[in-house]
Amino acid sequence: MIKLHDLEFEPFISEEEIINSIKNISEELNRDYEGKKPVFLAVLNGSFMFASEVVKRFKGDCEISFVKLGSYEGTETSGNVKTLLGLNQDLKGRYVILLEDIVDTGNTLAEIDKILKEAKVENYKIATLFYKPEAYKKSIPVNYVGMEIPNKFIVGFGLDYDGLGRNLTQVYKRKEN
Ligand code: IMP
Ligand code: MG
Repeated sequence: MIKLHDLEFEPFISEEEIINSIKNISEELNRDYEGKKPVFLAVLNGSFMFASEVVKRFKGDCEISFVKLGSYEGTETSGNVKTLLGLNQDLKGRYVILLEDIVDTGNTLAEIDKILKEAKVENYKIATLFYKPEAYKKSIPVNYVGMEIPNKFIVGFGLDYDGLGRNLTQVYKRKEN
């Protein structure tokens, strides 16, 4: 059990399980993007650890770029997604692989979908480490999923609770009393 700010969390997903699911995604990406020189577009802050694990397993030429969006306040989404750092690279005509730590309601994806449509990319797909199917409210397909999880609040492996917990190498879930 660990405590972050005022909340208690218990172990939920081991580092080994996380890395195995990233290996599976990476195999698919190596197969699907061979010779395509994709741009990985990681959504800050949460996806930095996932992004590093995916990019280091990609075998061909690739680039990485970052955008930053924010919606969460504490353990709840505010529903209001702000672009805090936009695209700083021309993605016109490129194959883009969006890297997300977790897809929850999908509000963040809907916002990025707009950004990428405006950027006139050749094609874009979404890869997420965690996916909460019960919370997802959008119709945008989530193409590569590391692990489906129940609608619970988790921390670790890049994911935070009010800034804390990103450094944890395994995933914890909020303790239910
Ligand atoms: P969405 O816009 O509701 O899909 O939420 C996406 C963003 O909210 C993610 O990129 C995370 O930063 C954050 N988020 C969603 N669920 C969790 C969670 O269980 N723990 C920590 N952050 C989360
Ligand atoms: Mg995020």
